Amino acid sequence: MSTVWNGAGRRIYMQEVGTRDGLQVEKVFVPTQDKIALVNALSLAGMAKIEVTAFVSPKAIPALRDAETVLREIDRVAGVVYSALVPNVRGAERAIDARADELNLVMSASESHNLSNLRMTRAQSFAALSEVNAIARGAKAAVNISLSCSFGCPMEGDVPESTVLDWCERYIGELGARGVTLCDTTGMAYPGQVAALTRAFRERWPETELTLHFHNTRGMGLANVLAGIDAGADRFDASLGGIGGCPYAPGASGNVCSEEIVHALELMGYDTGVNLISLIDASMRLPALIRHDIPSQIVKAGRRLDLHPLPDDFNATRERALGRSTGRD
Ligand code: COA
Ligand code: ZN
Repeated sequence: MSTVWNGAGRRIYMQEVGTRDGLQVEKVFVPTQDKIALVNALSLAGMAKIEVTAFVSPKAIPALRDAETVLREIDRVAGVVYSALVPNVRGAERAIDARADELNLVMSASESHNLSNLRMTRAQSFAALSEVNAIARGAKAAVNISLSCSFGCPMEGDVPESTVLDWCERYIGELGARGVTLCDTTGMAYPGQVAALTRAFRERWPETELTLHFHNTRGMGLANVLAGIDAGADRFDASLGGIGGCPYAPGASGNVCSEEIVHALELMGYDTGVNLISLIDASMRLPALIRHDIPSQIVKAGRRLDLHPLPDDFNATRERALGRSTGRD
C-alpha cells in the first residue's frame, strides 16, 4: 500500500453526521426548515452519505423530534445515500416510512455504555436489531451497524479487539449487514490502535463497507483518520463545524470536523468528491442556528492558501529596511 502522505487521487468517501450526531446534543431546537436547508447544502457540496437524523424517542432526543419531516422534505441528489439512525423497531418503521435509503442501527461494543445509552444489554440489543434488520430487508433498505465505543468505553476502559470483531461477525455473518461503522464515541482511539483494528477488519471482511467514526475529544481525530487510511479504510464520518457528541457518554465532544478533514485530505492529494468552499459556507451558517461558536479551525483560520493583504505600511517598512541594509553596506 502506498504511503499515507501521497493520496495520488485515491477516493475517500466523506459521510456527514452533523445533522444527527451534531444536532442531537444541542440545547436549542434548530427549526425544521433550517435543518432541511443544511442537508440540501451538504448534498450539493458532494458528501457521499448524510446521516440526516435519528428516529429515536422524542423524549430522549427532543432536538430531532422532526425526523420525519426533515427526511421527507429534503431534495435528494442522485448518488448521495440518505441514512438515519434507528434504535428499535418503532424507529425502523418511522425511517422506512420517511424513505431512508439506509438504516443505521446502533449498539455499543461495551456493556456499560449500551445499558446507559440504550437501556438494554448487548444481547438484548442484538436480538432487537435482528428484528429491525428483517424489517429493513423487507423494505429493501440497506443496513449499517454502528458499534459505539469500539476503541474504548468511558466507563469500562479498553474494549478488547476480539470483542469488537465478534460483534462485527454477528452483524455481517448472521444478519448480512452492508456496512459497519466502528465508532470512537468518546475520543479514546489512537493511531496505532486504529491501524490495528482497521487491518484486522479489512483482512476478515474485504468487501464490507467499513466506516470509521472519530470524535476529536483528545485532539487525535485527524491523526486517527490518516492511520485508518493507511490501514485500508476509505469512509469517514465527520460533522460540519466539528459539532456533536453522545449525550450518554461523560466528557464526550464533537466529531472530527468535515471541513478540516476535507481540507487536509485534498492537500494530501486524496479525492473526497467534496467542494470545500460550499462545505465551509454551510458550516458558517451553524453558529447562528445553534447559537454558539463551533470548533472548526478552518472556519476560524481559513484555508491554508487564503492569503491576507499586506499591512498598509508594508511599502514604507520595506523602503526603510532596504535603506538600512544599503546604509550598512
Ligand atoms: N421513536 C419514537 N418514540 C419512541 C421510539 C422511537 N424509535 N422508541 C421509543 N419511543 C417512545 C415510546 O413510545 C415511549 O413513549 P411513551 O413514554 O410516550 O409511551 C418512550 O419512548 C419509551 O419507550 P420504551 O420502549 O420504554 O423505550 P426506552 O425508554 O427503553 O427507550 C430508546 C429506548 C433507546 C428508544 C430511547 O431511550 C431513545 O430513543 N434514546 C436515544 C438514544 C440515542 O439517540 N442516543 C444517542 C445516539 S447513539
Ligand atoms: Zn459519534
